[in-house]
Amino acid sequence: MMKFRTLPLSKVKRGERILVRIDANIPLHKGRIPAGGAWRLEKVVDDIRALSKRGAIVIVCAHFGRPGGKRVDELSAAPAVRWFNRIGKVKMLLAPGVAGPEVNDFVDDARSGDVIILENLRFDPRERENDKTFASELASLADIYINDAFANSHRKHASMHAITKLLPSYAGRLVVEEVKALSVKQKKKFVLVMGGMKLATKMPVLERLAPTADVILTGGGLALTLEAARERRALKINGKEIDPAELKLARHALKLFSGKMVLPIDVIVRNEEDTRVLWADEVDPGDAIIDIGPKTRDQYAQHIDGANTVIWNGTMGIVEESVAQAGTIAIARSISEQEKAVTILGGGDTVSFLRKKKLATGFTHLSTGGGAMLVFLAGDSMPGLEVLKK
Ligand code: 3PG
Repeated sequence: MMKFRTLPLSKVKRGERILVRIDANIPLHKGRIPAGGAWRLEKVVDDIRALSKRGAIVIVCAHFGRPGGKRVDELSAAPAVRWFNRIGKVKMLLAPGVAGPEVNDFVDDARSGDVIILENLRFDPRERENDKTFASELASLADIYINDAFANSHRKHASMHAITKLLPSYAGRLVVEEVKALSVKQKKKFVLVMGGMKLATKMPVLERLAPTADVILTGGGLALTLEAARERRALKINGKEIDPAELKLARHALKLFSGKMVLPIDVIVRNEEDTRVLWADEVDPGDAIIDIGPKTRDQYAQHIDGANTVIWNGTMGIVEESVAQAGTIAIARSISEQEKAVTILGGGDTVSFLRKKKLATGFTHLSTGGGAMLVFLAGDSMPGLEVLKK
C-alpha cells in the first residue's frame, strides 16, 4: 500500500500558516448545497477545525465546477463558506480572490486560529495548467501544504502538484483513509457494479478488476451503450444518439468481459404518454430508458447475495427523477444486506442520492472520489498522490 508523509497535529505550531487543499466540488442548486450534497465537506471539517484549535492559520483552497479559467459568480466558494460557518461550525472567511497581492494582504492580517478560504482555484487558468508561477503565488501564502483532496488527486493541477515542489507537503487524514480503504484486497465472491454514463471513463477500472471479479452488473447509460452495441440497435441515452466511439468501445468490452458482464433484461422507459416496464429487447429507438426494471433488480440482488467484496460506481437510472430511482435504491439495499462483505461505493451523484434517501449507511467505505476512485482502482498514476509518497 502507498505510504505518505503526514503531519501529526502535535507537530503543528501556533501561528503556522497551513494551506489545506480540499475537494469541495459539490453539486449546487441555485447557489445552494442540496440535501445529502455536503458530504465531501463533512469529511474534512473536523480536521480543519482541529488545525485551527491548535492555533494554526488555516488557508483552505478548493475548486468548484469547471469555470474555464475565468470568474463565474455561480461557482464562487461562497456557498461552501456558508456551509462551514452555519453547519460545519467553523468560522471561515472568504479571501478577496484566488491569489495575488490582495490575497497576500488578507492572509497577512490573519491571526492564529483563523480559517480562510481562497476563491475557486479554477477561476485562474493557471490552476489546470499546473503552472509554477501560480503555485508560487499560492505557496507564498503558507508555510506548509496539506493535500486532503483525494477526489481531485488524479488531476495534475497547480494546487495538487506544482505546489508540492515549493512547500513542505503532506497527505491529509482523508487521503490516507481513502487510500487504505481502496487498497483492500478483493475477496471472492467479488461483485463489480458499474452504472453512470460513460463507458470510456470506466474502461480502465473494468480492465483492471474484471479478471478478479466474478460478475459485473451494469446499469445506467453504460448498460444502454452495451445493449446497443450487442444488439446493434439505435438506442438513445437521455434522448441523445450514442457516441460512435462509445459503441466501438462497448463492442470491445463485450468481447473482453464476455461471461462476466450482465446487462439489464428489463428497463423502465418513458415516452410522451407514460412510464412503463419493457423487456430490454422490446425498446423502441424513440423510448427514453430511465432505469433498470424490476426483473433486473431481482436478478442483480441474487448476484450480489453472498458477496465478500462489492465495488459500486454510478447510478442505475436517472435518479433526479422520482420514477427512475428504484434501481439504484434496490442495489443499495442488496449491497447493505451483505453484512460480512467489504462494500465500497464511489461517485458523487450516487453517494449524494443515497445520503438523501438515508440509504448510505450500510457500506464499509463511501469514497469521496468519483473519477479519482476509478483511476486509483484501475492502478493508474495519481499525480497528486505520487508527490506525497514517503
Ligand atoms: C470530482 O468532482 O470528481 C473532482 O473534483 C474532479 O473534478 P473534475 O472532473 O472537474 O476535474
